[in-house]
Amino acid sequence: MTDHARPIRKAVFPVAGMGTRFLPATKANPKEMLPIVDKPLVQYAAEEAVKAGVEVLVFVTGRNKRAIPDHFDKAYELETELEARGKAELLNTVRGILPSHVSVVYIRQSEALGLGHAVACARPVVGDEPFAVILADDLIDADPDGGLKQMVDLYERQRCSVLGLEKVPIEEIHRYGVVAGEQIAEATWDVAGLVEKPPREKAPSNVAVVGRYILTPAIFDMIGRTGQGAGGEIQLTDAIAALLEHERVLGWELQGKRHDCGDKLGYLKATVEYAFKHEELSEPFREYLRGLNDAGLI
Ligand code: UTP
Repeated sequence: MTDHARPIRKAVFPVAGMGTRFLPATKANPKEMLPIVDKPLVQYAAEEAVKAGVEVLVFVTGRNKRAIPDHFDKAYELETELEARGKAELLNTVRGILPSHVSVVYIRQSEALGLGHAVACARPVVGDEPFAVILADDLIDADPDGGLKQMVDLYERQRCSVLGLEKVPIEEIHRYGVVAGEQIAEATWDVAGLVEKPPREKAPSNVAVVGRYILTPAIFDMIGRTGQGAGGEIQLTDAIAALLEHERVLGWELQGKRHDCGDKLGYLKATVEYAFKHEELSEPFREYLRGLNDAGLI
């Protein structure tokens, strides 16, 4: 099988960022462990990968490395305690975090040198096959199969790298990697160029790259040749721009709703919307908000 004909079996989760926008909550915990209602962001992301057919989850961890392996590991004491107390439902919740056919690998990024560098750290595990990258702080609410599955479907038809895209308000464009290119089919873009965090007047479009990527293994050599970019970091966007000189890259406008949970306001909005969808909380939470509204507080 040629590299490009291989299915997407591995997903890389860079979770080694500093998370400065969430300090002090992220002083001792990665931001990807922040919960939305009752599940950490990283678990939503892992579930999305599994729904897309991924079997190996590769976490690139940083200085606060313990919480994520602990979350995906067996918790003997907790399970024994829940069993003794007859809490069967909670026991299933704790045990069933990942299906048994899925394995997890952890790699350390010793210094937070940027997203591109974090992805390069996964090379020994990914090897010579196409793979996904998921940034768990971008939470994608896309029923029934999740955002990554939509991109895997496009990859399987076209066998090239696919970037997750979203149209964003032009006044926010300077926060994103931005695409130059043309729309070739519904939700599908032929990517001709990429710029990381351009000022508004230099942005080639209002189409931004969000935290989902399917990449061919050629990206690793491109990252190796990429120097420091925006913010002094080794940027994945710059490496993808270099990849474009050798390979076709497509973009997929994710169908669903993205919540930027790396940002405090985005995180709060996601919490509210997921609480509305939560079986136990939906009604009492709405009632509480109605009460605030009636009291003139919102
Ligand atoms: P962000 O740009 O959101 O940076 O990283 P950050 O450091 O996590 O957060 P702020 O801006 O300081 O609040 C995007 C993704 O890349 C990972 C982060 O964990 C996040 O998932 N990342 C970033 C790394 O794994 N390593 C790095 O060196 C940089």
